[in-house]
Amino acid sequence: MDHIGELGPVDPVQVGVIGTGYVGLTVGACLAHLGHRVTCTDVDVEKVAALRQGRIPIVEDGLDTLVAEGLEQGTLSFELVHPEALGRCDVVFLCLPTPVRDNGDLDLSYVEQAVRHASGHLRPDCIVVTKSTVPVGTAARVRRWLGRADVHVASNPEFLREGCAVRDFLEPARVVIGATDERVAARLAALHAGLHTDVVVTDPASAEMIKYAANAFLATKISFINEIGRLCEAVGADVTEVAAGIGSDPRIGPEFLRTGPGWGGSCFPKDSRGLAYLAAVNDVSAPVVEASIRSNDDQLDHVYRTVRRLVGPADAVAMWGAAFKAGTDDCRESPALALADRLVAAGIEVRIHDPAARFAGRPGVIRVASAVEACDGVAGLVVMTEWPEYRDVDLQAVRSVMAGDVVCDARDVVDGERAVAAGLTVVRLGRPNAAEHAGAPVLA
Ligand code: UDX
Repeated sequence: MDHIGELGPVDPVQVGVIGTGYVGLTVGACLAHLGHRVTCTDVDVEKVAALRQGRIPIVEDGLDTLVAEGLEQGTLSFELVHPEALGRCDVVFLCLPTPVRDNGDLDLSYVEQAVRHASGHLRPDCIVVTKSTVPVGTAARVRRWLGRADVHVASNPEFLREGCAVRDFLEPARVVIGATDERVAARLAALHAGLHTDVVVTDPASAEMIKYAANAFLATKISFINEIGRLCEAVGADVTEVAAGIGSDPRIGPEFLRTGPGWGGSCFPKDSRGLAYLAAVNDVSAPVVEASIRSNDDQLDHVYRTVRRLVGPADAVAMWGAAFKAGTDDCRESPALALADRLVAAGIEVRIHDPAARFAGRPGVIRVASAVEACDGVAGLVVMTEWPEYRDVDLQAVRSVMAGDVVCDARDVVDGERAVAAGLTVVRLGRPNAAEHAGAPVLA
């Protein structure tokens, strides 16, 4: 593994980005912001038309500003996928969907189709780069699909958190490049000039594995603190105190030690299952990854049981939050919606509020326009997404419309003193107070 030091000034490069989803749009807009000339392509006619007008289809802090800047300066354009769009590019990033199959394997048909479609139109010496997460070994497959010795293939995995993807791109902890050719690695490193960060250069397979290992490790860290939280409830300890106490050890670090309803989103679940699948097909034992997934499922079960100790099947509950985390409209693998479905299955109506989330209607779940309105007539409130606005809700107003007085705060959002003053009983994950309910039976 090599480390490339301080990168020089930006030497503008013609960049192509195939796919304008959560990753592609952020990558394209940020590379344009760095001074490159970026062409983003997509098969979605309506999306391309909207993007050309600066209308972006996702919630991502700061992205609309960068897209507007790129359009205004002429450094960012949006095209329907066609050969000419990519023929002038020196580097082409693959930011395509890789749907996960039930067994954890990824469907690479979108990647293969895009690579085969583009192959005959790429200029010699072009670099095709896998950006969105792909299984280990994909770079070798892309090389085969390209069928061209004069076009290079490399891996440059993204480490973008939804909701702060622009910041994560422009202020990365590191840039990882997987390339077999030093000149290719140097060209890709130079593309990131202007980002004051460490550039790690390795082989493509290791770069692909770095991405999986990073996500699976972060997911495991969260599963671990949630597991400790469940234990804290049983023994009357406080998981936030424990997290602070262990996180102060630089070998552990304070990040990703916040207890919650379990990890969701389009990455941790898919990548953890993908790594477990990779181990299984290679006949390699990976009990830590598998246990992290099981433990995450247990955490949602735990939140469900905690809520069911507070409300019975004839009740209704309010749910604050549908998105898998704050800052995004994304509800993929959202613990909130998974919990809502389970409560509905137990005969409990769910009145849900979320300021930004996009999700389809679902039986027994009523979407309401405000956090207070969600609480109208309910037996209890469940906080599942840590939107900042929930910290400021008038809890006196909440209590005045609720039929019951219990709150299961899975995200540590509700202010304890204001809740007590409003006559609310707040149960938090991993706290001694939850223990009072730990022994209580599920309300039949
Ligand atoms: C993740 C990785 O962080 C990112 O580097 C990668 O490129 C994509 O996957 P993302 O899934 O967007 O990013 O969100 P992240 O902020 O990592 O949160 C993932 C899940 O863990 C969310 O459900 C979040 O609520 C949960 N989480 C996170 C916790 O429960 N506790 C924490 O302390 C942190």
